Formats: sequence, C-alpha cells, structure tokens
Amino acid sequence: MSIGMASGITLGAYIVASIFFILSLGGLSSQESSQRGNLYGMAGMGLAIAATLWGDVAHDDVVRGYGVIAVAMAVGAVIGGILAARVQMTSMPELVALLHSFVGLAAVFVGFSTYLDTNVHYTGVAKTIHDIEIYLGVLIGAVTFTGSVIAFGKLKGIIGSKSLMLPARHWINLLILVACIYLGYEFVHADEIDAGLSRLLIMTVLACLFGIHMVMAIGGADMPVVISMLNSYSGWAAAVTGFMLSNDLLIVTGALVGSSGAILSYIMCRAMNRAFLSVIIGGFGTTRSSGSGAQEIQGEVVAINAHETGELLSNIDSLVIVPGYGMAVAHAQHLVSELTKKLEGRGVKVSFAIHPVAGRMPGHMNVLLAEAKVPYDIVFEMDQINKQLANTNVVLVIGANDIVNPSAMESPDSPIAGMPVIEVWNAHHVVVLKRSMASGYAGVENPLFYKENTRMLFGDAKESIEQVLGAL
Ligand code: TAP
Repeated sequence: MSIGMASGITLGAYIVASIFFILSLGGLSSQESSQRGNLYGMAGMGLAIAATLWGDVAHDDVVRGYGVIAVAMAVGAVIGGILAARVQMTSMPELVALLHSFVGLAAVFVGFSTYLDTNVHYTGVAKTIHDIEIYLGVLIGAVTFTGSVIAFGKLKGIIGSKSLMLPARHWINLLILVACIYLGYEFVHADEIDAGLSRLLIMTVLACLFGIHMVMAIGGADMPVVISMLNSYSGWAAAVTGFMLSNDLLIVTGALVGSSGAILSYIMCRAMNRAFLSVIIGGFGTTRSSGSGAQEIQGEVVAINAHETGELLSNIDSLVIVPGYGMAVAHAQHLVSELTKKLEGRGVKVSFAIHPVAGRMPGHMNVLLAEAKVPYDIVFEMDQINKQLANTNVVLVIGANDIVNPSAMESPDSPIAGMPVIEVWNAHHVVVLKRSMASGYAGVENPLFYKENTRMLFGDAKESIEQVLGAL
C-alpha cells in the first residue's frame, strides 16, 4: 500500500473519530442520552488510537516503538480500570482533576521531546511557528499540570479550601506573565538548542508556579469554576500539542474539550453569579465574614425526629426534595427514590430541585438520581422550582447546605453573596437532613437552620430516610 493511500485512510478514520466525539458531546448534554454519549466517546477514542498507530506503520520510529506502546497502554488500562471501578461517586471530581493534570504533564513532555527531536528540521517562518507551538504547549501544559494537582489537593482536603491571598498577588502574576513573554521571545530567537532549552526550562518552572498560585488563590466556594476551567485548559494544551505533532485529530479533539470546558465554566459562573475573570484572578470564595455571620443569625434550631417527619409527610399534597453533597456521601439516593414512589402512590406530587453546583461536580445529583431510577420528568432545575416553592407543603433538604443558604441573597458580606440558591424557606415547611450543625463546602453558617418553618432531622441521611420510610 502506498504511503499516500495509507495517510488517506488515516485521515478518513480521523474524520469519523471526530464525528464520534461531536456525537459524544451532544449525547452528554442530557441525562437520557448520556450513556449513548459515552459509548460514542469510547468508539471515537478506540478508532483514534487504532488509526494513529496504524497510520504510522510506514514510520520506522513507531514500528520500533510498538512494543513500548503496547506495554504502556496495558499498564495504563489496568491502572485506569482499577481506579474507575473503585472510585466513589463522591471522589469523582478529585479523579477528574488528577486526569487533567496528566494531560498537562503530557503536553509538557511532548513539547520538550519535540524541541529536542533531531529529526525535525524547520527553517524560517516554519521554524518560528513550530517554536511558538512548542512554547505555548509547554506553557499551557505546565499551568494545567500544577493547577490541577492543587485542585486535586483542595478537593481531597489535603490542602485547605480557603483562598491564599498573598499581598502582592496581582503583581506576582503580572511579573510571571511579562517574564514568560520575554523568555518566549528569547526562545524563538535562540540559535543554539541549549540556549532555547534553558529558556524553555525557566518558563516551565514559572508556569508551574503560576498554576499553583492561581488555584491556591481561588476560594472553596469557587472551586466548581476551577474544575471546568482546568478541563478547558487541558483541551487547549492537547490542541496545541496537536499542532506540534501535526496531528489533525488531536487539534480537533483538544479544541472540542477546550471550548466545551470554557462554555461549562461560563455556565458555572452564571450559576454562581460570578464574573469569570474575578474568579481566575482570585479572592472570591474567601471566608470574608464567616465569623461575624455566625453572630448575626437570629432564631433557634428546632429538631424533629423521623417519626414526626413521617407524620408530617402523611398529610401533604406536594413535596420538593433538594439533594446535595450529603446525599452522595450517605449513598441515600436509592432510599430517596423509594420514598418518592411511596409518596407518589399516596397521591403526593413529588419534585426534585437540582442546583447547578450541588455536590462536587457538574451534574453530580443528576447522575445519582438517574442511578436510582428517579424519572427525569420530576427532576427540575433551580429556576423552575423556585417559582413553585411558595405553593409547596414540604421541602426535604437531603445533605444540602450552601445551595439552600439564604445568606447568599441576604448578606452582601457572605463569601457566597450573589450566588443564586434554591429558596426553600418560601415553602410551608422545611425539613433538613444532616448529621450536625456543621457548615458546607464554602464554610459558611446557614441561617436557614434557624428559621421558624425549618426543622432539623439530625443523623446520616440514609438512616434518617430509612426511619422515615418505616414511620410512613
Ligand atoms: P455542601 O454545602 O457541601 O453541604 C453538604 C452537607 O451535607 C454538609 O453540610 C454536611 O453536613 C451534610 N452531610 C455530609 N454527609 C452527610 C451524611 N452522611 N448524611 C447527611 N448529611 C450529610 O453541599 P451542597 O449544598 O451540595 O453544595 C455544594 C457545595 O460544593 C457548594 O459550595 C459548591 O460551590 C461546592 N462545589 C461544587 C462543585 C460542583 S461542580 N458541583 C465542585 C466543587 C465544590 P453534616 O456534616 O452536618 O452532616
């Protein structure tokens, strides 16, 4: 087979793989089609790997490297398989952050090896463009790498979720930016490989420091945006790597991940009423007033037991369930689904209210409810449900906290000020299921627990619902 024909077939396979990836993203946009979306993604990735390996058969280096590639893929597949099988739904965001860091690191390695590859000879403008591709790939890759490692640490709780506010933080960022631009100029104009390499290395260290500083400066409440932003960065790092390696599929795939991550970041910012730039520059999500906020809260906490909750639920027409991170921790979704069926059987109108940043990753609650076979048509978004709450008899808040915190609307000093929340306090009665008075992810006190129409059902959410079911 001629090389021309072989590359034609490879190109065809790349186009089909790209279509699979686009169908995959389309599928992932709704719960009903998400499984299909995943299958498209897997098919696209399988085809992409096969086409890349096969397409380079004519290329000596890759033929010699087949053994290494097979071993690397086998080791990666085993580690990935074990990790994916073992990961808890609550730890998924950490795993995603870790995977983003791998993409960043890969872009850095590919950048350095491309620069040191003695088989590549470019001259004139082509060399300049190639060098810029390398420089940008390593830059974005290094920021993504360390930023994702810090995000992993914050989500796992190894690093505190508070934002690190260095006094001259904006100046530090500006200095790094100027230094990177200068080093980039020097890198592109370097005559000797050694001179270029030293510039590239210094920039890599600076970019790594920038990644650490950027994510350290972002407070706990804004972490959702960081995750989707790093997702976007990892895509752009892959796209630039595609340019470096002249691989069209990598460019397309990277651009798809980069742009979908950017759109998701925008949606997250809108959901939290944050300006994207302000989040990135840092300083939001800090505990500006958590201490004073605690004293301002008026009212007292009234507890309720499972039996009383059962009685309350026995005489209602409408119920709204607001799930949060605690439902995931307690693995309570199946019992929540059972409770729903039982009450619906008694003629109660049951609806679910999903906040865009409930849990620890986009769509976290939707995934849990789908797993527990809760019908999609009773699951509503925040804006839809907020209009109905005044006419709702009871709201059950199951392991949610920040997303139902009235101080986001009432207290301009609160770290979550301005974030739209589910206004559960407008319902006739609110029952909050949680283990203690502890605050949620953003570390903010919640005045909802002190409101007159709120009752606290203390305990693990799964055990509490089990008891409520028994009482019913
Ligand atoms: P949180 O505000 O984190 O509150 C969860 C509550 O669940 C806690 O107050 C905890 O109280 C309770 N809980 C924990 N384990 C429980 C159990 N076994 N049984 C019963 N309750 C339990 O959660 P949320 O309301 O879902 O809000 C999400 C927060 O995470 C937001 O601040 C958001 O910005 C942030 N975040 C979101 C994402 C994405 S993309 N969704 C990513 C990163 C961060 P007790 O300890 O008293 O039980």
